Parts: sequence; C-alpha cells; structure tokens
Amino acid sequence: IPVQPFDYVVFGATGDLTKRKLIPALYHRFLDGQFDENSRIIGVSRSPLSDEDFQEAARKAIADFVEKDYQDKDTIDRFVSIFSYVINDVMNREGWGDLGKALRDDTKVVRAFYLAVAPDIFGPIADYLGKRKYYRRDARVVLEKPLGHDLQSSEDINDGIAKIFKEDQVYRIDHYLGKETVQNLLALRFANTLFEPIWNSAHIDHVQITVAESVGAGTRGYYDESGALRDMIQNHMLQLLCLVAMEPPASDDANALRDEKLKVLRSLKPIANGDVGKVTVRGQYRGVASETTSVAGYQDELPEDKKGSRTETFVALKAEIENWRWSGVPFYLRTGKRMAKRVSEIVIQFKPIPHSIFDHAEGAPKSNKLIIRLQPDEGVKLLMMIKDPGPGGMRLREVPLNLSFAETFSERTPEAYERLLLDVVRGNQTLFMRRDELEAAWCWVDPIREAWDRASEPPQPYTAGTWGPTGSIALIERDGRTWHEDD
Ligand code: BG6
Repeated sequence: IPVQPFDYVVFGATGDLTKRKLIPALYHRFLDGQFDENSRIIGVSRSPLSDEDFQEAARKAIADFVEKDYQDKDTIDRFVSIFSYVINDVMNREGWGDLGKALRDDTKVVRAFYLAVAPDIFGPIADYLGKRKYYRRDARVVLEKPLGHDLQSSEDINDGIAKIFKEDQVYRIDHYLGKETVQNLLALRFANTLFEPIWNSAHIDHVQITVAESVGAGTRGYYDESGALRDMIQNHMLQLLCLVAMEPPASDDANALRDEKLKVLRSLKPIANGDVGKVTVRGQYRGVASETTSVAGYQDELPEDKKGSRTETFVALKAEIENWRWSGVPFYLRTGKRMAKRVSEIVIQFKPIPHSIFDHAEGAPKSNKLIIRLQPDEGVKLLMMIKDPGPGGMRLREVPLNLSFAETFSERTPEAYERLLLDVVRGNQTLFMRRDELEAAWCWVDPIREAWDRASEPPQPYTAGTWGPTGSIALIERDGRTWHEDD
C-alpha cells in the first residue's frame, strides 16, 4: 500500500549509514511502488555539495549496495530525481542552511527529520529546526544510535530533543526490531495458541540469545568507545529478550507493546556489584596467524593511541527476570565480534519430561528445544524426540520440525530499514524504542559497566574464529547447562 507523500530530511547525508542503509532501503520501497516522485529526499550536511552531486552519490550507493537484479536504470533515474541537497552547519548560526526551499508547506506531505549524525548534535539540530520554524507538531524525528553511553548521557540527548519534539514524534531506531524474523517472534507467540500455555517457568528451563558476528570491530572508529555491552546488549539483545519475555499486549498499538517491553526491562534483576564477576564475562579477540589464515586481533586493528584498550568485543551474561512468569528461568545472552560464524538465534530450552517410560530404549529422551533463527537462514526449528524408523526396537532420536523461510517463501526478505523508514511516514511507532524503555535498559546495564571499569583484570582473551572466552562456557556450565551448538 503506498504511503502518503513525504519530505524526508536526512542530516548526515554524506555519512556511511546514509549510503549503506538509508538510500538502498528507500530505493527498494520506491521500486516496489510504495512512494513515487511526489515525495522528496533532502540531504543535509556540512559538505559543499550540489543537488546533482547528491544525486550522483545516491546512484553510487545504489550501484554499490543494492543487489544487481534490482538495479533498474529507469527506476534509478526517477528515484534520484527526488533528491536535493542543502549545505548546513548546525553548530554555527552563520552556516545554517535554508531548508525552506526544499520543504513543502502542506500538511498532507509528511515531514520527517532523520538524524544520522553523532548524538551530541541532536540537541543543536532540534534547536535549529525550532528556531527556523521547520518544526511542525505533526513532524517526526528519527534518532540513530548510540543514544548515549550511559543513563545520564542518554537523558541529556533525549532532553535536547524533548525541548522541541514531543515523545509521540520521536522514532528511536533499533534496527533489530525492523528485521523480519524479529517481528516474526510476535507472530509466533501471539498468532498461535500452541506456545502461550507453555511459555513460562513451569515448562521452560532457560532461554539463550546469541548474536554472533564473524566480522571484527577494530576499524570502526566508534567501537572502542562503546564495546559490546553498549553496542549490542543495551539495545538489540535486550529488545530481543523483551519480545521473548513480555506478556501478551492487549493490542498491536505501539504503546501497548512498548508498555509490556518496559515491564520486562523493569523486572530485570539488577546485577549486584559483587555478582558481576560471576554472571558476566567479557572478552576481547586475539589474532590468529597460521600458514593458511591470518586474522588480526582487536589490539592490532587499533591506532597507536588506543593500543592497550580494555574494550570488550564479546559479552556473555546471565539475566534474570523477577516476575511470576519467569522466576527461576535464566536468560543467557552472548554476543561478540570475530566469532566462529555469523549467527543470531534464540533458543527456548524446555524442561525435561517428568518421567521416562523408555528405560530400555536406545538413546535417552532429550528435552525439547525451540530454535528461532534470526539470521542468516531465517527459520524456526522445534527439536523433538521420535522413534527411529525400523524394526530394531525402540530407538529414540532427536529430529527437527523445520520451517525454513527460504524454502517456504519465494519473496525477497526486506532489510530492516525498509520497514522502519516507512513506518515513520505511516506514523507507526511500534517498532521504535520509547524513552522510558531506553532509560530502563541503561539503568540495568550501567552497574555492569561500572563494575568492569573498576575491575583490575582485563577482558578475557579469545581466539578470533571461536565461540568466545572459556569463561563464557564456564558461565553456563556452572548451572549444569550448555550453549546450543547448531549443526
Ligand atoms: C549495530 C552495531 O547496531 O549492529 C554493529 O553497532 C553490529 O557493531 C550491527 O555489527 C549488527 O547488525 P546486523 O544487522 O548485521 O546483525
């Protein structure tokens, strides 16, 4: 369904995010006919570019980041015709650009400001929009992470925005919420009757959430300031945990859903200072050099002045939710760079059967597992016990009931940003983080960070291409459990 025409103003128009994610995502939506030449994309940044330069940059972004099969010359020509550019130095009043020529004064045209810039200039941008009268009560502002590095800085950023924009105008991106399979979690839980009755501590032993990346981190400038706890746990991983753990919302209304997520975040058991060493593990990857492969370690990738950094590139932790549904059910989270492979998945480990009648069978019954694979090879797998076919008596075997998205659906899976960028135009905040959620997440994460900062020992080393430091294996094995290993 086509969306209303819009004026999308992108601050940080020459940045990496714009070319890698925003332009390709908007192009795909244009290609699918969700908007047309009645909409405008207005790039804003300090670089002295012309409209034509920005259009050229858009063409290049499409050539570089859109799959060849979808690059259609005629569509690209029409798409870039809606691009224009305004030079603007928001920090300096003399350099303030004139958005007036680009923005349309028509309430039927949705006005959205996308801030793909460092968060310390969110406030000044809001100020500029307000003073220059580009603000409208129905305008929307989209904020990119990092939304702070702790609770205090996140409050400062949000206060800067709140001086001009009301909460119902603010769209905080957590791109994990835009992923198809993440939204599918909602369908799985709330569009089936099967799971809800067993989705609790009576039937579930524990939950594992893994987001493993095979890429490294060192060349990304911001990473050393951030580390895996802020970069992945505070946002993406806690959002996944919320979607798994929250109560069924009363409707799909944005606030109904966000209220439930907030309750989960507020029910997370605070990790006391003395427990941080027991229930969290942080790691940093070391390089490997052999005759066949050579991968640089995190330290090798850093510039001279950052060498010796104690930034973690891996985190594993045990989270507990203090409410009726989840009492006694640990949620083990782990994420890292340069791990054995790229895989994101949620594993729901059910409790063992109460009594086995198969004492004489070969193979003991294993507890059921539901594995929700977010990426790559999206799908849902339920591991069940069956009788091995054949006349040889009762032999038990674990087999998957397997739903592979690639095999079931032929449609292309849209990128997270495609959904999110147009949800802004639609005015649908469901897949965006509300301020109180963000702050609740920081409240839980900050004490972990502080304890690590005080600790004398550095992150545990792990070899690039492995599943992380041995401490992360010990973390779960101490509880008599193991990390799920996929074939
Ligand atoms: C980003 C992090 O938010 O998510 C990156 O800043 C990380 O460090 C990325 O690589 C992972 O996203 P995806 O979609 O590739 O899983």
